[in-house]
Amino acid sequence: MALRFYIETYGCQMNVADTELMGGILDRGGHVRVEEPGEADVLIVNTCAIRDHAEQRVIGRIGELNRHKLERANVRLGVAGCVAKELGQELLDRASYVDFVVGPDSYRHLPEILDRVGDGDRVVYDRFNRSEGYEDLEPLRLERFAAWITIMRGCDKFCSYCIVPFTRGREKCRSLEGIVAEVCRAVEGGAKEVTLLGQNVNSYRDAGRDFPELLEAVAAVEGLARLRFTTSHPWDFTERLVEVIASHDNVMKHVHLPVQSGSDRILARMRREHTAAWYRERIDMLRRAVPDCALSTDIIVGFPGETEADFRATYELMEDVRYNSAYVFLYSPRPHTPAAELTEGRVPRAVAVERLEALNGLQRAIGASYLMAKVGGTEEVLVQGPARRGEGRLTGWTEHRETVVFPGGSAMVGRILPVEIEALAGITLHGRPTRAVPDGRPVLEIPVLAG
Ligand code: 5AD
Ligand code: SF4
Repeated sequence: MALRFYIETYGCQMNVADTELMGGILDRGGHVRVEEPGEADVLIVNTCAIRDHAEQRVIGRIGELNRHKLERANVRLGVAGCVAKELGQELLDRASYVDFVVGPDSYRHLPEILDRVGDGDRVVYDRFNRSEGYEDLEPLRLERFAAWITIMRGCDKFCSYCIVPFTRGREKCRSLEGIVAEVCRAVEGGAKEVTLLGQNVNSYRDAGRDFPELLEAVAAVEGLARLRFTTSHPWDFTERLVEVIASHDNVMKHVHLPVQSGSDRILARMRREHTAAWYRERIDMLRRAVPDCALSTDIIVGFPGETEADFRATYELMEDVRYNSAYVFLYSPRPHTPAAELTEGRVPRAVAVERLEALNGLQRAIGASYLMAKVGGTEEVLVQGPARRGEGRLTGWTEHRETVVFPGGSAMVGRILPVEIEALAGITLHGRPTRAVPDGRPVLEIPVLAG
């Protein structure tokens, strides 16, 4: 029987891509995606377990969605993603309204799971499955012009604070040919931009081929205007990779390189396998080859043992590197992780919050200075669609993934246009389309101003 399904997504881009994957599997199984929980027969929450706060939030949301089961007969509620893998059977034991739990390696079994819960069973599919290679699964994409393509799953790094190796398992790479074929299909389907996803894309390996080779193969796909990748671990960030970024016009000059801390003592306790000086050298190497490269990072404050001096080192690293953007998190002890056992030197929450605010304040100022410097210049913008507010205005994003709002019509949607930047409001750039050629570089498409 065709069922209407609704999937709500939490967490990182990997989860967004997995939601599209589940959508594709269910769609091919004859089921139909709906946008509202009130219209669905099957509700799935795709969850994130990275910090306790994220986990509590999704558990609360699952409780709220039970309302639909109480209001309508035969509605089924399932939990997918990292919390599903982390808690498994415990979710069924704790919440009588949860009908099924499905971990990432079991998404292929969703149609069969729906059959079983339709018969009144409550089921848990949460085993890691080495033989699940994620090939031949066509996602039901949520965005028209940007495609997210998972190239590898899991992580073998075991940073001491991180739950990912336990919820996502060991590293597992898809075949290079399978990835390139999926990129071709995405481009044929209208995607202008592709982002290759993995917890640590730089350790990609397939039959002797590494990530720079994969990146080159994807960059060569006919018609692919923009190529991105995330996330990179500094350890595998090599000169060869930087060379590929520098030498391909369609590889976007934007790298997300989490540092986590600027203190060697804390980095060692985090088991990051790099020092601050070594990380800075990576950045210097990248900037020498790609001077206009945008950089973003992740930082954890309040890690056990973090002193004022350790924090200063992080603050100074941020001042020196000058990231375009940074995600700063409060340390959260997670099950299974060695750092959760560290009882010495716990940082009081108020102190950690103060540090978080100091870094966010610094980053806001640095980020704004980058954006301000763009006012008066021209940016190539991938036009996404109508802006949320304001008739006749469109929104899109730059090569560095900054949001731009400008006047225009529907004929511009899905194109890459030069936009002259006139102002900055908050973190949004405002401008107007132009025919000017920015910095003498070729414009990818001539704007169509009508429509
Ligand atoms: N507490 C706080 N932040 C964490 N991250 C990963 N694990 C934790 C944790 N236990 C952050 C890291 C990582 C990002 C995705 O989430 O900064 O890069
Ligand atoms: Fe977690 Fe470290 Fe792996 Fe990133 S590299 S997913 S922080 S274990």
